[in-house]
Amino acid sequence: MAISGLEVTSEPTLRDGTTLGDLINEDQREVSLRVLADPELYRLELERIFGRCWIAVAHESELPEPGSFVVRSIGEDSVVVTRSEDGDINVLLNVCTHRGMPLCRVGRGNAKRLRCPYHGWAFNTDGRFLAAPFEKQMYGPDMDKVALSLKTARAEVYAGIVFACWDQSAPPLVDYLGDIAWYLDIMFSRTDAGLEVVGEPQRFIIGANWKAASEQWAGDGYHAMTLHHSLTDLGLADYSKGSWAINVSTMGHNLRCTDNPKKFWGANTDGLSLEEKLRTLPPPGTTPEMLDEVMRHLSEPQLQILTDTPPSVGQIFPNLFVWNSPGLSADGTISAITRIHTMFPRGHDKMELVSWALVERDAPEDVKRKARQTSVLMTGISGFIEQDDAETWPAIQRSANGTQGQKLTMKYIAVLGEQRPEGWPDGATVYDGFSRDDPQWNWWLRYRELMTTGPAASEAW
Ligand code: FES
Ligand SMILES: [Fe+2]
Repeated sequence: MAISGLEVTSEPTLRDGTTLGDLINEDQREVSLRVLADPELYRLELERIFGRCWIAVAHESELPEPGSFVVRSIGEDSVVVTRSEDGDINVLLNVCTHRGMPLCRVGRGNAKRLRCPYHGWAFNTDGRFLAAPFEKQMYGPDMDKVALSLKTARAEVYAGIVFACWDQSAPPLVDYLGDIAWYLDIMFSRTDAGLEVVGEPQRFIIGANWKAASEQWAGDGYHAMTLHHSLTDLGLADYSKGSWAINVSTMGHNLRCTDNPKKFWGANTDGLSLEEKLRTLPPPGTTPEMLDEVMRHLSEPQLQILTDTPPSVGQIFPNLFVWNSPGLSADGTISAITRIHTMFPRGHDKMELVSWALVERDAPEDVKRKARQTSVLMTGISGFIEQDDAETWPAIQRSANGTQGQKLTMKYIAVLGEQRPEGWPDGATVYDGFSRDDPQWNWWLRYRELMTTGPAASEAW
């Protein structure tokens, strides 16, 4: 599905004549390491990927009341995400329309208006121009205030996550998510009050191209057995039979459904009713008191998947990582990891990883505290899972920066092909089996489709 109905134009061609088709070889299923290190390609990504896709920028719980705002990014553009007086969520380019000064200089807060620190122009929290100092003396009575409003992205919320999109012709968020939305509900839309962010999101600068992380998040179960072997050493995972999952894939989005909860709780739920299964394997982060709500919020097929092979980790194209799984807390008991990450690009060889910890809003304080501790313990660059990844991506970047290194390719040659378990719901492509390269390859195909379909949103305006 083309994202914005625009015609295919031309293959991106770099200054030395290399085309994207040379770098992403669809016949061989190989991707040149150069795609991680090329500044020209990177500039085009900012237009064709970050200028057109729905990009996650916040969680709605970060904007509890009118005037709440947080500062985030879409690509390299700083944006202010606000809750305006009417309760709407707005995503505004953090650039003053007078002379380009960023309006917000702090990461979050509450404000009745946004006032530029340079000459003092002021804007409403929905982006409309409000007033300028000495307005009459400077601009007379006929100032065109509408034309001076802040540039605004489309903003929509799904499963509590705030997404923004610059492309006015892109489909609505729910269509952009497609069949993956149904699975996101299982992870994040299970209760009346829903999830909320606890604490500040963690932020890290990592010396690697954003795609190095994104393509891994798209479904690389293979690396866990080697890179994350410490999990096996600690008794938290058993990869002796390899990495098995039911990968669900559509339009570049991918989720891994696994029977991890059964392993964590050591539960055999064969022959139990749906409700009995749910009570034996409560969704990570919920309490027994919430299970009636879970049963109300999700359909029977969703509950079936939730209790047998729930979606645990995955990626919404291009740069949102979603995670809901059991996790081991510091006191050795089982808690939950419920988390979203994004990587905002900061140049072709650098990214900012932003990571939010989520908890069920109605959970008791001690459950929330433990879940937050567990997710910090296990994820993020100090967590004992992701510290391995945070070391790996910059190391690959150094390979890609080398003149010889970037002539090599990344291989996606392990093919499973669609394997849909009997009775599995329709929609999306499903790969049931030993985790191979299919979901990650689909990620690259989506990337290539968007990079070769243009023009970029900003060119179209
Ligand atoms: S740049 Fe903002 S008021 Fe001048
Ligand atoms: Fe990893």
